[in-house]
Amino acid sequence: MPKSVRTAVFPVAGRGTRFLPATKSVPKEMLPIGDKPLIQHAVEEALEAGVTRLVFITHSSKRAIEDHFDVDADLERALEAAGKTETLDKLRSILPREASCVFIRQGEPLGLGHAVLCARPAVGDEPFFVHLPDDLIRGDTGCLAQMAERYQTTGTSSIAVENVPRDETDRYGIVAVDDADRLSAIVEKPAPAEAPSTLAVVGRYLLTPRIFDLLETTGRGAGGEIQLTDAISDLLAHEPVHAFRFQGTRYDCGNKLGYIRATIDVARTDPEIIAALQGKALL
Ligand code: UTP
Repeated sequence: MPKSVRTAVFPVAGRGTRFLPATKSVPKEMLPIGDKPLIQHAVEEALEAGVTRLVFITHSSKRAIEDHFDVDADLERALEAAGKTETLDKLRSILPREASCVFIRQGEPLGLGHAVLCARPAVGDEPFFVHLPDDLIRGDTGCLAQMAERYQTTGTSSIAVENVPRDETDRYGIVAVDDADRLSAIVEKPAPAEAPSTLAVVGRYLLTPRIFDLLETTGRGAGGEIQLTDAISDLLAHEPVHAFRFQGTRYDCGNKLGYIRATIDVARTDPEIIAALQGKALL
């Protein structure tokens, strides 16, 4: 019987160059969608899936992420004294007591595969999630919870995928699958003419710990970086890996357009904002 997945790894050490200058001194994971930063949306999705250990692979320029999950006793006291209990409750619910955080510095951004390998000491010999917070996925059930449920049946690694236009394959990892959605190949950023399909990897993975052994020997790949995709390609020789077609809408919040689309869609489902905009005849 597959074990439950209790660890989620959040690689957040990348520089976020696609969203400069917004991300020059503010980590892209701290950009708000609604009233929560992207990283908090990510953590909430992991908690919903039953995760209790949160592992952040981070960088010295991303200290704000660590601060966000720390207790700010002065702020809490000030809110309490001012009688702002609702805000205080929101602050205190950022992280439930049963969840623990581990922060590991990547030092040099050598690639997503290298970032995941940095998590090895914190993850140990267990299956784990990898969650890329700039891919926001909204739906009735969180994407990681959907993947955790499927894992109880398959017991295999899985990778969230969605179809993209063929002329965009060179922005993604692209997979080839059989009739049962089992991966036969995975390629990083193939040119449209060479892509084995239009099924693109999005930022959610459930991985067995064998991936760490493979990452130890993964050389630099596309863009001169150590690519998680290349290690997953090696994993296919040892274990089945499934593509997971999630329910929900994905927003690539690492770029301006995706970020604005997510902001608008979140605002559209917030009754307070709708009422305020209607009141000002802005809707
Ligand atoms: P991206 O490809 O989105 O890179 O990384 P980036 O640096 O964050 O953003 P751009 O493309 O320059 O705008 C995918 C994920 O992998 C993490 C990033 O933080 C992001 O969550 N990452 C990437 C690392 O943690 N370390 C790395 O060395 C590379």
